[in-house]
Amino acid sequence: MSDTDELDIVFGASSAIGGALIQRWQRQGRRPILAVTRSANSISDIGDLNRVQVEASDYTEADLSALAARLMSAQTNVTRLVVCNGVLQGAGYRPERALAQIDSAAMNEVFEVNTFLPMRVLSAMAPLLKTSAAPIVAALSARVGSLGDNRRGGWYSYRSSKAALNMMLQCLAHELVRVNPSAKVVAYHPGTVDTPLSKPFQAAVSPEALLQPDQAAEALDSVLSQVVADGALSYVDWRGQPIPW
Ligand SMILES: NC(=O)c1ccc[n+]([C@@H]2O[C@H](COP(=O)([O-])OP(=O)(O)OC[C@H]3O[C@@H](n4cnc5c(N)ncnc54)[C@H](OP(=O)(O)O)[C@@H]3O)[C@@H](O)[C@H]2O)c1
Repeated sequence: MSDTDELDIVFGASSAIGGALIQRWQRQGRRPILAVTRSANSISDIGDLNRVQVEASDYTEADLSALAARLMSAQTNVTRLVVCNGVLQGAGYRPERALAQIDSAAMNEVFEVNTFLPMRVLSAMAPLLKTSAAPIVAALSARVGSLGDNRRGGWYSYRSSKAALNMMLQCLAHELVRVNPSAKVVAYHPGTVDTPLSKPFQAAVSPEALLQPDQAAEALDSVLSQVVADGALSYVDWRGQPIPW
């Protein structure tokens, strides 16, 4: 990267949605892209990456701080920062259907990836968010993190991890408006997207309601193009429609 680079950054770059977003931005050719992922190998299949710098990260505070320091010393101007990391199920656990299925280890893992990791990322990137011109920060949340929209229950850990993420993003929006009023924070629901995360749970989803990753990326790109730096957190879906808290 050269001095005073403008840069779009995607964390969780190997996610189906993040990968599609990177491909879309790469095709648009507007500015360089930094793709942060646990393993650089995991994004080798997303196609032509000539405008993409890939950074492997273990998402520890030390690693993220070192990355932020490098970006700061290059006087990076972050234009868009999107955090795509998330889990719904993992080794030995699935989303809970009932209270009796709550398991501490599983709950910890879901909160670690869905809530704590995105906030570690944003905490490390805080100096950049404060100094960049009109940075747009989006974390992939989910409609099921809405208390008002929760009419069926279940999925205790996933729902709650996204609700907690939303609260932390609200705190971030309040903090950023005081130091960088040009910044905007978005808690984003991408719709139900055909990805490894949703694959085991698609049986009840009609084909018309299931977005492909490239459609999800187009929608995300479009919503991020239209948000306004109003000092508030926007909790919106892929159509740009607000979601009740
Ligand atoms: N698909 C849907 O229908 C849907 C609906 C609502 C919300 N969302 C949200 O959208 C986001 C992207 O989802 P997706 O469907 O594209 O999922 P995906 O393809 O399964 O990707 C999830 C990504 O999260 C990161 N990740 C997974 N486990 C991790 C761990 N233990 N530690 C650190 N990072 C980990 C990985 O990125 P790296 O290895 O590259 O870091 C992985 O590629 C998630 O936050 C999800 O909750 C998805």
